Amino acid sequence: MSDESYEAETTAKAAESGNKATERFLQNTAFANVQADQARISRIASRVIKAMNDAVIEEEVTYDEYNILKAWLIKMGNDGEWPLFLDVWLEHSVEAVHNSAKKGTKGTIEGPYYVPNAPQQNTPATIEMRADEPGTPLKFHGNVTAVDGTPLKNAVIELWHADDLGFYSQYAPGLPEWNLRGTFIADENGYYEIHTVQPAPYQIPTEGACGQLISAAGWHAWRPAHLHIKVTAPGYDLITTQLYFDGGDYLDSDVAGAVKPELVLRPTLSADGTNADAKYDFVLDPA
Ligand code: DHB
Ligand code: FE
Repeated sequence: MSDESYEAETTAKAAESGNKATERFLQNTAFANVQADQARISRIASRVIKAMNDAVIEEEVTYDEYNILKAWLIKMGNDGEWPLFLDVWLEHSVEAVHNSAKKGTKGTIEGPYYVPNAPQQNTPATIEMRADEPGTPLKFHGNVTAVDGTPLKNAVIELWHADDLGFYSQYAPGLPEWNLRGTFIADENGYYEIHTVQPAPYQIPTEGACGQLISAAGWHAWRPAHLHIKVTAPGYDLITTQLYFDGGDYLDSDVAGAVKPELVLRPTLSADGTNADAKYDFVLDPA
């Protein structure tokens, strides 16, 4: 493939990923019936509105800039990129609040590309992938225990991640439905073993509203390579997290601010350098 057609193809795949994020979010998310507490809504909405007004006054924002903001917010909706925007720049704070009392494995953001009910297998297992799936083969394994050390037999591990080009199935076009997605059951000792390939770093779609902001501000659009994981067991809290790769690019400058030192894998490479082995033990809090 020429450099230009490669560029065009990856740009189109990224744009479609952004667009699908809104549609799939509305399909996949079970909305809790949150009791409308008027005082709380008023307090939070007032703070957000005040923060925006403070920025306008302190930065002396002009009408031209205000109109660009309006147009950009409209584009955000039209591009379907609200899930991307929120998951990159806000979710990490929601996650910090949600998991503040947990003692087990650290959580981090879910991001926009989770799909529930991926095909289930007992482990050891190989995740669904194409026959010629590019990327370094990765054996990902470890134990699931409770915070008191009890092995959690039949713990459930959901794993989803980008491919070797940074694309997620069901969002980027042209990938098999469940590519690099699966639900895995640990054995009777809480040991799991999943065979997959190492993902590549992920770039926020550059053509849409999020990408416009990033380039206008002179930021970069990258997340370090990561595995997305949800782990639970009967009677234990579900933890949603991600694992990163030691030495990988963008670990110190994740656009989504979602890296934690406890979540960095240190894979070992086989003698010939062709296979990676990463061990990670998950620890769950009681429900
Ligand atoms: C986004 C993408 C991800 O893969 C992720 O883990 C977090 C955020 C995004 O594009 O918003
Ligand atoms: Fe991701």
